[in-house]
Amino acid sequence: MRVVVLISGQGSNLRAFLDSCAEGTIPATVVAVGADVDASGLDHARHYDIPTFVEPFEPGGDRDAWGSRLGDRIAEFTPDLVILSGFQRLVPPSFVRRFAPMILNTHPAFLPEFPGAHAVRDAFEAGVAETGASVIVVDDGVDTGPILAQRRVPVADGDTESTLHDRIKIVERELLADVVRDIANRETAIEEN
Ligand code: GAR
Repeated sequence: MRVVVLISGQGSNLRAFLDSCAEGTIPATVVAVGADVDASGLDHARHYDIPTFVEPFEPGGDRDAWGSRLGDRIAEFTPDLVILSGFQRLVPPSFVRRFAPMILNTHPAFLPEFPGAHAVRDAFEAGVAETGASVIVVDDGVDTGPILAQRRVPVADGDTESTLHDRIKIVERELLADVVRDIANRETAIEEN
């Protein structure tokens, strides 16, 4: 299965995914890694000699036009699956239509709790005893697509937002690996809405 991964930051989940693909524990090949900014996580792709691209969104720019350019960059690599892994920009509906339903997103909360860009901070500030991690199919909403996998993560005494996020990411990596493995082995079918 050919996969294009999109990131915006350090890409620690991307790195775990690439390592698992290289070890053969995820039956997928990452054919390209893209970003909307010059993300430090692109180095993980370079480490594995995987092509990278950056498609920046200009402030005040046309979201559909950007989504179309981003889609063109991705389509060059003819992926079977697109994974948003810490991609912090909302993709437009035209982009979703182009790749649906084969676009996944990992999210650091137990959806539908705490959607959006600051899920860990929001959960931490809400003082909840547990939050979680989810892998969903991307739709036109903000973290509203069908949930493919999720697991609870307790908030520990003495946690900071950062220590909590680090523990959530460990769960995200496991969930994403399980979901992609199931899709590749045709044990999970992602259906068109
Ligand atoms: C991950 O926790 C991912 O779920 C989250 O960003 C982090 C990226 O970490 N994504 C979102 O919040 C999307 N709204 P990483 O760059 O270390 O892989």
